[in-house]
Amino acid sequence: MNTIVSLCKRRGFIFQSSDIYGGMNGFWDYGPRGVALKNNIRDVWWHSVVECPPLDKNGNPLRIFGLDSSIIQNPLVWEASGHAGNFSDPMVDCRITKMRYRADQLIAYVPENREGKSFAFFEDEDEKTISSKIKKCGGGKIEDFCRVSFIDLEVSSYKNVVAPDTTEVGTLTEPKAFNLMFETRVGAVVDDSNIAYLRPETAQGIFVNFKNMQDSMRAKIPFGVAQIGKAFRNEVTPRNFIFRSREFEQMELEWFCHESEAAYWQEFWLDQRLNWWKSLGLSADKINIRKHGRDELAHYAKDGNGTVDLEYKFPFSGEGFSELEGIAHRCDYDLSQHQKVSGVKQEHVDQSTNAKFIPHVIEPSSGLTRAVLAVLCNSYVRDDAHPSGFFLNFAPKIAPVKAAILPLQANDEIELIAKKIFLELRKKYAVAYEDKQSVGKRYAKNDEIGTPYCITVDFDSINGGDVTVRDRNSMQQERVNVSLLDAYLRDAL
Ligand code: GAP
Repeated sequence: MNTIVSLCKRRGFIFQSSDIYGGMNGFWDYGPRGVALKNNIRDVWWHSVVECPPLDKNGNPLRIFGLDSSIIQNPLVWEASGHAGNFSDPMVDCRITKMRYRADQLIAYVPENREGKSFAFFEDEDEKTISSKIKKCGGGKIEDFCRVSFIDLEVSSYKNVVAPDTTEVGTLTEPKAFNLMFETRVGAVVDDSNIAYLRPETAQGIFVNFKNMQDSMRAKIPFGVAQIGKAFRNEVTPRNFIFRSREFEQMELEWFCHESEAAYWQEFWLDQRLNWWKSLGLSADKINIRKHGRDELAHYAKDGNGTVDLEYKFPFSGEGFSELEGIAHRCDYDLSQHQKVSGVKQEHVDQSTNAKFIPHVIEPSSGLTRAVLAVLCNSYVRDDAHPSGFFLNFAPKIAPVKAAILPLQANDEIELIAKKIFLELRKKYAVAYEDKQSVGKRYAKNDEIGTPYCITVDFDSINGGDVTVRDRNSMQQERVNVSLLDAYLRDAL
């Protein structure tokens, strides 16, 4: 990782944000090569999802619409989605009932003699109800218990605790702190009435536009809405370079379908997304598919088929893998919540039966900035034969620079031809003109930033109209006529 991080700074991919002030933990700036790489990955995703979506089993393109919703939304969005309530407190989940509790709002009844079952209740539960539940569950008399804050219990003792909505012990997960929402204020008045949040996921912008999408696009189930954009999380431990940042970008698709077809579409999207990551050039043996365990599912995915992650073996992943993308079955959780809180119907009408239902959602959700890191790590190839001892093996379609045009020497005629080639090719491709330093150093630098081709103009080019094209990976050189360069690059890229 240290090699990648220093290369990124040295070659203008990624800088520490506000570097001259010592940086800011969890925030990063993308330099000229970094932003080009990120935009290229973004465009490849957008193309494959929105402009040229996959075909269904009848050979027809799926219907997927693009969206760019705002980062700051009505705070009720986050209340409905569960983020406002759940993101800033320690939460425990019941594995059986799927209920979620704020650990600091529960109290526990623990036996005086510390033997046998303990019981968790909401802190405002009346004593009669508490007493009768303890008795019913075979715990004995309430007088034999002491009342303590649930949050003060050792996690190891949870195995003896009966959760508020169940009668069995050991169903509560350990508390998780969700302190992730960044707060801001909207307008000139400074009071709590104008608190708003920076979105922690782009997904909610899609859910709250579901009705707009249906109405304006005459969309029929199944259809999808896709969005790429910034998300913000006040991560407790931002780490591993840009892997876990506080400001990052997501590429999210919400695929609305009938509940009965959700399992099929989740498999479908898993397959599509796996192939997409491979098409970026990620090595197949470094990608892993992992199904979430019941106890780690997000609240919205508990009732459905769960979530499947696509993971990548980053240099910091040790023996394991780290998440690139989750393909979740969010059930009808989000639309139901928004219907409940906004009072606006979020139903779909089946044209043939007139039946109304709230669609289920399959959500392939990936990190764009995380994709940049995966691609950077994956493309670093050590090779002593290369002038720098390594090169970046970017797939040409995402390489920041597709070709560098290099006049071999400072000579008017050579430079004239090189400039002409550059001015022509730049109309179609991201190319660079470089005339400083020796040609060897220019090759080395282009290997380091992953430029697939170097086009060198020399004395022979003056007479024959041929130039040398050097392939980044093989370092093989071939002579190509200037008139054929455009076609050559088009085929190669
Ligand atoms: N809408 C669902 C959702 O946001 P998530 O698993 O929390 O699910 C989806 O995030 C993807 O966003 C992750 O797989 C990861 O690629 C990326 N991501 C999440 N948190 C991130 C962070 N702090 N920094 C960079 N990328 C992050």
